[in-house]
Amino acid sequence: MSGSALPPLATGRGAQSAKEVVRELKQKGALCLPSFFDAQSVKEMRAEADALLTEQIEGVNSLDPHPSGRMVWVTPQVFNERRFARLGEAFTSAFCREIAASYEPRCKFFRGAMITHDYKPCKITDIHFDASPALKFMVYLTDVDKDSAAFRYCLGSHRQNRKLRNRYLLMGGQLKDIPNIPGPAEQIALTDLEGPAGTLILFDTDGFHSAGSLKQGRERLLIRATTFRRDWYHSRVFQNAKIRNPLRIFVPLVVPKGRQATRGYTRATTHPDL
Ligand SMILES: [Fe+2]
Repeated sequence: MSGSALPPLATGRGAQSAKEVVRELKQKGALCLPSFFDAQSVKEMRAEADALLTEQIEGVNSLDPHPSGRMVWVTPQVFNERRFARLGEAFTSAFCREIAASYEPRCKFFRGAMITHDYKPCKITDIHFDASPALKFMVYLTDVDKDSAAFRYCLGSHRQNRKLRNRYLLMGGQLKDIPNIPGPAEQIALTDLEGPAGTLILFDTDGFHSAGSLKQGRERLLIRATTFRRDWYHSRVFQNAKIRNPLRIFVPLVVPKGRQATRGYTRATTHPDL
């Protein structure tokens, strides 16, 4: 990405090809590749992340409040600088690009990245799926387990939620009002995606997900990049037509009992759901 003479970022991705990853992603909605990046790469990426979290850098915006630590949004231009090339490479490798392109050919790849450093005990996010559909790439830069708020995902739930979004919007519902928080009676079985520093996690944001709780004395540092998906309802024709959609009065009928909407923010933290 930087055009520099840095040696390639070392990965230990094993035998899984991008095609196999995509096949599994389509089936489960999320995938954890433990130790995808080797120890030296993690060290370099962590040093870059620490600088982005602590220094005043143009193109890096702090997202406050962040009760459990610090969170910054990094624009893509920042990764063109040689000193942040490692983090940029993490998501722009041929491997990640191939996965993004074959998982969703219409997605826009890599419009910046979010770095999160949590070190104060806190519940990170409640269970939800994202209002705007996307494929996210996330790299743990510290060892992450259940006690350090490992990412949690309800495997397979992405298919059902995508159908719900389509029905909801077709009836004239608004994307920002998508009922993406499960009701109290819904059984959402979450799997903790734990892994050592260097673990790469990929997930379809249509599946129910959350981060758990950070316990005293633990930390979690990660970087994630998003590829937003363009769907039929983004078209101008549909946007104009839905204003006069007579089916709008039936929208409540497609909403499962007890559902709520994050309206762009996850409840536990008031973080923008990027
Ligand atoms: Fe989310």
